[in-house]
Amino acid sequence: MKNTIVDILKMDTPKELEVSGWIKSFRGNRFIALNDGSCLASLQIVLESEKFTNELLTDLNNGSSIKVKGQLIDSMGSGQKVELQAKEIIILGKCSQEDLQKTILQPKKHSLEKLREQGHLRFRTNLFGAVFRIRHHLAFAIHKYFNDKGFFYIHTPIITGTDAEGAGETFRVTTLPLEEKSVDLKNDFFGKPTHLTVSGQLEAELAALSLGKVYTFGPTFRAENSNTTRHLAEFWMVEPEIAFADIKQDVDLGEDFLKYLINYALKSSKEDLQFLNDREIKEEAQLPKEKRNKLSLIQRMEMVINNKFIRITYTEAIDILLRSKPHKKKKFKYDIKWGVDLQSEHEKYLVEKHFQKPVVIVDYPKKIKAFYMRDNEDGKTVAAMDILFPGIGEIVGGSQREERYEVLEKKCAEFNVPKESIWWYLETRKLGTVPHAGFGLGFERLMMFVTGMGNIRDVIPFPRTPNNAEF
Ligand code: 4AD
Ligand code: MG
Repeated sequence: MKNTIVDILKMDTPKELEVSGWIKSFRGNRFIALNDGSCLASLQIVLESEKFTNELLTDLNNGSSIKVKGQLIDSMGSGQKVELQAKEIIILGKCSQEDLQKTILQPKKHSLEKLREQGHLRFRTNLFGAVFRIRHHLAFAIHKYFNDKGFFYIHTPIITGTDAEGAGETFRVTTLPLEEKSVDLKNDFFGKPTHLTVSGQLEAELAALSLGKVYTFGPTFRAENSNTTRHLAEFWMVEPEIAFADIKQDVDLGEDFLKYLINYALKSSKEDLQFLNDREIKEEAQLPKEKRNKLSLIQRMEMVINNKFIRITYTEAIDILLRSKPHKKKKFKYDIKWGVDLQSEHEKYLVEKHFQKPVVIVDYPKKIKAFYMRDNEDGKTVAAMDILFPGIGEIVGGSQREERYEVLEKKCAEFNVPKESIWWYLETRKLGTVPHAGFGLGFERLMMFVTGMGNIRDVIPFPRTPNNAEF
């Protein structure tokens, strides 16, 4: 394997080596900033222009890819510890000034929308390099956390016939010609209606009821027509499921897991996080004071790690909201009353104004939650939990599952879930059922919190949203 810049920057000098990358800048016919994506920092290449042809020098444009052989020495400049004295430079791929002008590779400030339109190139920017390196580290940390705790990674199906959440926002999967969609589904590929999964939970439960502790981490699909900064049609969800556990253990796991991941990011991605932290401060300097974050990105991460999450019931949350200033002054757009779902403005108030800490809300009214959640003794609420984060709102949604056959059967009827479609799910409640619980973490919501990016489209490489499936 070739040297990458992240390793080269730590090497002892002097050393002969070869490196490849893309030119970030070329100053004074003498200094190239070379980046290969392995880290945020670039390697300074120093060349004596007399030793190279004019033809080569004119090709050393921003964006061009090159291979350089030379000697790594201690740098005389103050910006870096080491630099590479170029002996040989080979152009691998030219990038002409003319072509460059049309793209986001042109070194000037571009809007995030523009960067999104050029999703094939945005990886090359410092910003998206940082975001996607962090995404990698967090994905790795998820597996590490569960592996270290004895959970087994289960691959649940992507094509399925069940709609776990019962929201009906599914993408149909069919091989029937478009005009035949309404005809007999027995002739379709699977001989029944199927769609892309909205959650791997029901299948993960089957595995947990044998293997004890499992988790899934895969893509999920929702045809919600909500063009918001927090929703994607294709997003990644982490879903642990534990047997012999109740809602309290579920919340404890959620809190511990989130703290672990945020702490992991702080340790694994220092340079990238500092960059994002400073970028946010610079961007916010242009905003009025009240619109700026009170805490910096890194301070917000530390705040989550260092504070116990607040735990309240839905009923308590409603009471707090009813007593709140915005409610009394009629500043909330949506009305608050027991039994209706909390809107993001309400969640925001609880997390950002009232508690100023992550908040876990438990015991929601059963009517607004999914059929599989365990009925509480009061007959009105279920053992559900949502974890709300500052700036994000709901980051985790979970529950203790209904493990009692008769109750679950009744709930299927109440929620119009056809028993035939999940006969296997029901059967597990007859054959050695146990209390169990789990949750789903929206991976991109976590990414938003850790990177400070305000739009979910900017934390997934290729976002899928209504009217957008480019690349
Ligand atoms: O609250 P949700 O719908 O819960 C479930 O799907 C359960 N089956 C999870 C479980 O108990 N195993 O979704 C879980 C999380 C949300 O809290 C949110 O973070 C994220 O998934 N999420 C989305 N993220 C991006 N785009 C969307 N359209 C999302 N919908 C949910
Ligand atoms: Mg939810």
